Amino acid sequence: MKQMSIAVIIGSVREGNNSLKIGKAVLRYLKEYGVNGFIINPVNFMLPFPGEKVQGSDTTYLQELVKNADGAIFVTPEYNGSISSIMKLIIENLGYPSTLKGKPSAIVGVTAGKFGAVKPMEHLRGILTHTGSYVLPLQVSVSNVYEMIDVQGFLKDDETRERLKTLTNAFIDFSQKFADEKSGLRNFNLGNSVMN
Ligand SMILES: Cc1cc2nc3c(=O)[nH]c(=O)nc-3n(C[C@H](O)[C@H](O)[C@H](O)COP(=O)(O)O)c2cc1C
Repeated sequence: MKQMSIAVIIGSVREGNNSLKIGKAVLRYLKEYGVNGFIINPVNFMLPFPGEKVQGSDTTYLQELVKNADGAIFVTPEYNGSISSIMKLIIENLGYPSTLKGKPSAIVGVTAGKFGAVKPMEHLRGILTHTGSYVLPLQVSVSNVYEMIDVQGFLKDDETRERLKTLTNAFIDFSQKFADEKSGLRNFNLGNSVMN
């Protein structure tokens, strides 16, 4: 079986942001399960607004990274009850029709709030589904994030760690089905409805 590769996409550029810390935890779990993971950190990419012409933009590079990955795990912060503008900008830079079409994805929400990143996760699910991505039904919210991470930036809450591991494991399995040519899912005909 082919070695899989999963992109972990971070939706924050804030210095010391928690989304990256959670994304790094997911990356460690991918490695523990023997899967190649890599982080897409928007701090390292020059991403233009839609329609803006920017010399040296990283749009094509970003699209190539995602195209070559077997799936993408989106780690979105909760900003004003939704996803961050930077997360939406990453998705716009993935094109229309999107590089995400036909690609498996999963959602992790990160919030300072105690009620969970329910709204950003639902908003992101709607957007990803619209692109034609297959979104894993399971999602994980890291609530009260400032209390969940220690000074070294590691998750200190056992339950959150276990939930993230479960999601990572389920997503590997899910993505494997799409990577496996024999499963038929890879060539599943999505039609044009997803581009409406
Ligand atoms: C612009 C902005 C808006 C935010 N809006 C909310 C919010 O609506 N609800 C909430 O609980 N936390 C909110 N937060 C706090 C974030 O959820 C918190 O910083 C968390 O760590 C995720 O963001 P980060 O990855 O940038 O650290 C907001 C933070 C910023 C910078």
